[in-house]
Amino acid sequence: MRSPKKIVCLGAGYVGGPTMVVMASHNPNIEFYVTDQNVARIEAWNSDALPVFEPGLDAIVKKVRDKNLFFRTIEPSLLEAADIVFVCVGTPTKEYGEGKGMAADLQFTELAVRDIEKYCKSGTIIVEKSTVPVRTAEAILNIVNTQQKGKNFDVLSNPEFLAEGTAIQDLQNPDRVLIGHAETESAKKSAEVIKALYTAWINPEKVLLTNVWSSELSKLVANAFLAQRVSSINSISALCEKTNASVSQISLALGKDARIGPRFLEASVGFGGSCFKKDILNLVYIARQHGLLEVADYWQSVIDMNDYQTRRFVSQVIETQFNSVSGKKIAILGFAFKGDTNDTRESPAIYVCKRLIEEKARLFIHDVKALENAKKDLSGIDKTVTYTTDIEEATDGAHALVILTPWREYEELDYAQIFSRMAKPAFVFDGRRIVDAQKLFGMGYNVKQIGIQPLMHF
Ligand code: UGA
Repeated sequence: MRSPKKIVCLGAGYVGGPTMVVMASHNPNIEFYVTDQNVARIEAWNSDALPVFEPGLDAIVKKVRDKNLFFRTIEPSLLEAADIVFVCVGTPTKEYGEGKGMAADLQFTELAVRDIEKYCKSGTIIVEKSTVPVRTAEAILNIVNTQQKGKNFDVLSNPEFLAEGTAIQDLQNPDRVLIGHAETESAKKSAEVIKALYTAWINPEKVLLTNVWSSELSKLVANAFLAQRVSSINSISALCEKTNASVSQISLALGKDARIGPRFLEASVGFGGSCFKKDILNLVYIARQHGLLEVADYWQSVIDMNDYQTRRFVSQVIETQFNSVSGKKIAILGFAFKGDTNDTRESPAIYVCKRLIEEKARLFIHDVKALENAKKDLSGIDKTVTYTTDIEEATDGAHALVILTPWREYEELDYAQIFSRMAKPAFVFDGRRIVDAQKLFGMGYNVKQIGIQPLMHF
């Protein structure tokens, strides 16, 4: 293909939006159309209040929007003119039928692909970017190439490795870019076209061309390995709490081993987000389908350990407060699944808050960016919940502070002053290991922090 002139992205979510914004900023001679069926989401992308919060995103959007990047509700004429279509629609875990609770729900992918097949011209390159189970590109290829005679498409896999909160950094300077393609001459050429989009700003050595299935599976496995590290260190945090070992000292010692490395060794209340659990469940499902039960059980245990860690944490919150939190004011500090994002999907905070609501606690939920999503997650069960962006309102008169998201703001709070206004005995439950436990203990708090023995005044 000659150099592409128009690129359409289907899906204006956490993946499609930031990816196209960065790609457009480095490919000023190509027009990018980020599309969605959701009119409100497109309006938000065209406003000052973007639907996705990512540090650094605003500035680049301002630079490229309505120059060579356009946010539009999807319409056939955009697809008709496209040289390349990126498929960035959601692939949530299936909530019905075969594979319920485990397999990826590909209904949005399939709808997108049917539109492509219907409206795109022959030769348009289709790039699958949503995380999908292996062999989806093949399924897409079957749909598009069997429908209308006379049209031919190459379908490539180009999985996204950006993490929320650091999306722009990850896109500007990725560890690698994977492009999976079939072994045909045409698919190889298409892969080179996609590669050129990336080498506009990325060192070509970082762009790896693989077969389609390796590319698809690499994405699932990368997330599974990262999640496995968190579950492994979380399992050790439970042991540390019973002994005199400290999980941060262990993480440090492990991280210094060059073979292991320092990242993803922070013990926590559990990993959340839309990716880890979903991708591991997919992996488990695929392994089971192939009759590999031991493989399935092995990866399932990574999720089981994560659920255990969150359950264990909330039990501690209840047990430590004399087995009853009924009627007590509890300040929840953080609801997002990690810092620097407004995303709350699969956040451990959802489970923790639901359990505390069941125990009849009065929750005051504080978050820097995620309160709107928190309200949706708890809607219908939040009669005893107050949502606030005011730390004093959240903590005044509270019996306990429960830290669930590692927002930098929570590291910098005036804990002595907060203590003076709390009900006594005052407790801190630090599910993210961001406070100086000894220092807070010295101020009078009873401190339960993941991965160290409890510091109690009684
Ligand atoms: C993850 C991967 O890191 C990305 O590479 C991938 O592209 C993305 O999924 C995806 O599939 O789209 P993300 O879910 O945004 O990214 O967030 P992570 O930074 O990986 O964090 C996941 C969870 O693990 C968070 O709840 C985080 O707080 C927790 N975590 C992470 C820990 O508890 N401890 C750690 O040491 C690291």
